[in-house]
Amino acid sequence: MKILIRDLVAADLSAVAALEAGEPGGWSLGQWTAELARAGGWRLAALDEDGGRLIGYMAGMVVGEEAEIFRLLVAPDCRRRRVATGLLKHLWRLLPGLRVSSCFLEVRSANLAALELYRAMGFVRCGLRPGYYHDPEDDAVVLARPVVSDHEAPSKAVIGPARKRTRKGAGSKSVPDHGVAVAAKGRRPVTGTS
Ligand SMILES: CC(C)(COP(=O)(O)OP(=O)(O)OC[C@H]1O[C@@H](n2cnc3c(N)ncnc32)[C@H](O)[C@@H]1OP(=O)(O)O)[C@@H](O)C(=O)NCCC(=O)NCCS
Repeated sequence: MKILIRDLVAADLSAVAALEAGEPGGWSLGQWTAELARAGGWRLAALDEDGGRLIGYMAGMVVGEEAEIFRLLVAPDCRRRRVATGLLKHLWRLLPGLRVSSCFLEVRSANLAALELYRAMGFVRCGLRPGYYHDPEDDAVVLARPVVSDHEAPSKAVIGPARKRTRKGAGSKSVPDHGVAVAAKGRRPVTGTS
């Protein structure tokens, strides 16, 4: 399937809320409204090839030299079709321009789909936060990936031990909108794909 990636906007929030409602611990509409109002970071939307349906999204922020992904979700009926991969590849094209050196995230230790996705995208485990999640209780696995330009292999850069937590919102950088079409699994690539 082909997907279109652009900035997430307020008009998307009802579709976002519907997807969040189907996820344990999903964000409320109020949380997403506050997230869109916050300065800095990125909120990317993945749409189906007609641009008519929101099928996934990702949110994150940049603090100093670190980027952090804190939300990534794909509609259940569109999973395993490389939508999340397309969003992450799009992010890799944005981050080098923001002068960050690494990208971090936390994921539940029981979330094997996400762990496998991030492993496939070059993230490595760099820490564990026991009991970090509740309802249900779970450990957080901290993953990191170096931020390199497109022509550099991730293995050429080095990730250190788990970094200190940074306060969200502090010193965050704005990310420009670069809506593009990318090819997800199941169809031949389109022009200008990832
Ligand atoms: C995790 C999630 C974002 C993956 O999205 P997706 O669009 O289905 O992922 P992709 O199709 O890009 O998958 C790429 C690779 O990740 C791995 N992967 C993805 N889902 C997987 C699963 N359920 N089981 C095992 N591996 C999986 C595979 O290696 C896959 O490649 P393959 O299909 O060729 O085997 C999606 O399952 C989701 O929204 N889950 C609920 C929310 C969530 O857990 N978000 C992440 C929290 S940080």
